[in-house]
Amino acid sequence: MQSPHLLLFLFLPILLPGMWADPEANPQVIQLLLTGLFANISSAEVSSVALVGDIPVFTLDPANWSIHFHWPWVRQAAAEGDGEKIMSQYKIGLRNMIRFVHETAQQTKQHYPLVVQFRAGCVLYPNETRHAFLNAGWGGRDLMAFEVDKQRWEARQTSQVAELVSKSINRQKSVGVLLEYLLTIWVCRNNFETVKRYGREILERQELPVATVFAHTPSLDQLLLVCHVTGFYPRPISVAWLRDGQEVPPGPALNTSTILPNADLTYQLRSVLAVVPHDGHSYVCRVRHQSLGTRSLLIPWENGSKAPTISITIAVLLLVATASAGGFWWWKHRKGNEATWEDQGFII
Ligand SMILES: *[C@@H]1O[C@H](CO)[C@@H](O)[C@H](O)[C@H]1NC(C)=O
Ligand SMILES: *[C@@H]1O[C@H](CO)[C@@H](O)[C@H](O)[C@H]1NC(C)=O
Ligand SMILES: *[C@@H]1O[C@H](CO)[C@@H](O)[C@H](O)[C@H]1NC(C)=O
Ligand SMILES: *[C@@H]1O[C@H](CO)[C@@H](O)[C@H](O)[C@H]1NC(C)=O
Repeated sequence: MQSPHLLLFLFLPILLPGMWADPEANPQVIQLLLTGLFANISSAEVSSVALVGDIPVFTLDPANWSIHFHWPWVRQAAAEGDGEKIMSQYKIGLRNMIRFVHETAQQTKQHYPLVVQFRAGCVLYPNETRHAFLNAGWGGRDLMAFEVDKQRWEARQTSQVAELVSKSINRQKSVGVLLEYLLTIWVCRNNFETVKRYGREILERQELPVATVFAHTPSLDQLLLVCHVTGFYPRPISVAWLRDGQEVPPGPALNTSTILPNADLTYQLRSVLAVVPHDGHSYVCRVRHQSLGTRSLLIPWENGSKAPTISITIAVLLLVATASAGGFWWWKHRKGNEATWEDQGFII
């Protein structure tokens, strides 16, 4: 087997400066995702993307391994300091990784095609705590994870591959020491200032939600009110239904989807409320989002209207005063504590 040392170079691209989070904002995740598709013993396709939050900052072209910078400041940051040195090394690292995977596959008699994935990066919490991570996957399952504190890889599955690879890498103590240093010092700390300097544009990106309310009538005695919210960024959002002005609590009548990505790096979700037709209540969909500040988006369901079941009313109303609970929520949010936001149930 190749020296596991070589695997190390695989992670060098993640060490580019300019991927760090704003300590005053929500927890920020900075990561490099790498996927290798090995169709057969003589083939390998590698694709990779580096993300700040959920915004790509650079990608690796699978065709020729050239790096595509999505933002001018990333190129600039990459050219500074040790970035250039690292950039000149990453192709060597990729070749070694490919050889290592093929050798491991042969040694453990794996069947092609194979998919190998890596995820490496750092989470920065508002309280300044940083958490570095480095994980490897094989065939769509967790293979092993690097335990930063212990400076060693731990298998995440019981298999010959996991055992073989982790043992083989852990045998070289210097690899663990170096990885720990790179992840905690370089990835999680050193480049912090770089993003503060250059990356504000994407760290502070905000896109307004657009909400639509319409109804389905699956049966005569049931009306499904749908509030569809799309086009917003960042991801955290609060969508609630108000019945006669009161928030409808979670329950079997309320069904809110997970937040799904749009192609333009915004998000969408829908919240469905089952009601009895003509129950005499008024219904309003309320949306709160960072981009709206203290305001809420209120979209009433036009109960009385007959024919058009689609009512597109985008009413931004200045409703939530600072004295209200909403103001408190906003204040907490502006303080940049996403965890608090979630703890208080504003994320559905
Ligand atoms: C290996 O896979 C690649 C990509 O799918 C294909 O182009 C190539 O012909 C395959 N080679 C062999 C020997 O099967
Ligand atoms: C790499 O390939 C892409 C197309 O897949 C092309 O646009 C780009 O110019 C190429 N880069 C280099 C350095 O050859
Ligand atoms: C900082 O916040 C994270 C996530 O909320 C938490 O896990 C961690 O324990 C906190 N650290 C300190 C020192 O308070
Ligand atoms: C919520 O909606 C999803 C998707 O439409 C559906 O599969 C699920 O059964 C619904 N859950 C409830 C409790 O109505």
